[in-house]
Amino acid sequence: MYDGAYSDKVIDHFTNPRNVGEIENASGVGTVGNAKCGDIMRIFLDIDPDTHIIKDAKFKTFGCGAAVATSSMATEMVKGKTVEEALQLTNKAVMEALDGLPQVKIHCSLLAEEAVHAALWDYAQKNGITIEGLKKPKNDIYDEE
Ligand code: FES
Repeated sequence: MYDGAYSDKVIDHFTNPRNVGEIENASGVGTVGNAKCGDIMRIFLDIDPDTHIIKDAKFKTFGCGAAVATSSMATEMVKGKTVEEALQLTNKAVMEALDGLPQVKIHCSLLAEEAVHAALWDYAQKNGITIEGLKKPKNDIYDEE
């Protein structure tokens, strides 16, 4: 196997992505893009307002295979977590769960992390709450000038 190959898990999540779609009236929606490759990712979160637990997560990605695989894995990983726990989900953790990504595809996993953060930010904004440690996402494409 050469160094840049995709793991079986990446191929599985790309060919059979989990949580594709939209959530109507989502608690939070985050849309981010990468200017270099032009790929766009949108994550929808359904969050219990009392417990702050993420009940459901879905995504839509106009992006490469690694973007699909990382969104699929990231949405799987945030389900059942509180918003604070979901904020701790790093792209590194998503990559590890996928048994790694080729170097040139690391930015794709970053997009997944940023999309989760943007959705959490949207949720916090809509509800007038502060999520400890969450900063305004830089990469929300609707915020760009
Ligand atoms: Fe841009 Fe994968 S190449 S998200």
